[in-house]
Amino acid sequence: MINIQKKIRLDQYTTFKIGGPADFFVAITSLADLQEALSWAQKNKQNILFLGGGSNTLISDRGFRGLVIKNEISGIELVRENAKAVWLKAQSGEWWSSLVNHAVLHNYYGAENLFLIPGTVGAAPMQNIGAYGVELKDVFCSLEAVEIRTGKLKKFNKADCDFGYRYSIFKGKLKHKYFIYSVTLKLNKTPKFKLDYGDIQKTLAEKKIINPNAREVVSVIMEIRNSKLPNPSVLPNAGSFFKNSEISLAALKKLQKKFPDVKFFPATKGVKVPAGWLIEQCGFKGKVIGKVGIHEKQALVLVNYGGAKASQVINLADKIMTCVRSKFGLKLECEINYIE
Ligand code: EPU
Repeated sequence: MINIQKKIRLDQYTTFKIGGPADFFVAITSLADLQEALSWAQKNKQNILFLGGGSNTLISDRGFRGLVIKNEISGIELVRENAKAVWLKAQSGEWWSSLVNHAVLHNYYGAENLFLIPGTVGAAPMQNIGAYGVELKDVFCSLEAVEIRTGKLKKFNKADCDFGYRYSIFKGKLKHKYFIYSVTLKLNKTPKFKLDYGDIQKTLAEKKIINPNAREVVSVIMEIRNSKLPNPSVLPNAGSFFKNSEISLAALKKLQKKFPDVKFFPATKGVKVPAGWLIEQCGFKGKVIGKVGIHEKQALVLVNYGGAKASQVINLADKIMTCVRSKFGLKLECEINYIE
């Protein structure tokens, strides 16, 4: 039996610690709970918002008119294995880092670089989370999702998900149509680390580690993250606020004429220009404006210094976007989900 509550403050459920009240709120711990919540919303003609860890979400000060469904469906199990690989299935309300931790403890390899990304397992495929040269798609096998309209479970293989840079079909054509219920990763039984990201190389060299094991890779990732990214439980934030800008080679050449030192990395089509660099060049890095600011070590992260309103974050984001557009002619895209 689910317990639908009224007028629940949502700031307590987001890592930004921002958000007005939800008209209705329910925490679910099973598929049956989810189906009950979906029928309730349908019967009562309420909009639905799913919340996992609330780590990539900015909720408006007005809150949400409808039913917020907080995903607390947990569990991790080994569903298949062969000589080379294991298939780990995790329920979508499980904490993503618990899943990576579980894999590392059991010597299942491949997800190390994704350690400590805040959020739930269900949010990971939604935007194909990524860090330090690895993306979810590299370890992803399949997922099960519940169709919101019918309550029915459907399986999606990797190719069905249309993964891209911080993108999946669940942010595109199937937006608001499915609830991700479980995710199955395929992990290796023998180590195969991805260590070419500059900061990883640098940290390993500093520590004089040549052939790292999984625990060492994870501890290097932890060190890099802690040195650059604010811990949301200490300084509320939602990670990268913007996506890096994907531009063509021709656009890069044009940009280089005016800004010869522009940073860029190869991307699927053309190059990615780091938004952190663009924002820093506009002079925003480390700035504090009232209760919000731009983190001093990573200009992609906007921070709530205590009691900030969503409107203040949005104003700051607008200022940043305007400046980047007028200086570089580039339009920054939001990486976070803004719930108006
Ligand atoms: N840079 C700056 N100034 C800054 C920040 C970055 O000049 O303030 C430059 C750096 O010098 C570096 C380049 O930008 O040359 C890339 O910086 P970094 O390695 O810190 O990564 P990022 O591209 O800024 C992305 C992800 C992060 C992820 C890191 C590491 C996006 C939107 N963000 O940031 O993901 O942790 O790479 O792989 O793609 C997140 O999604 O919430 C997130 C934190």
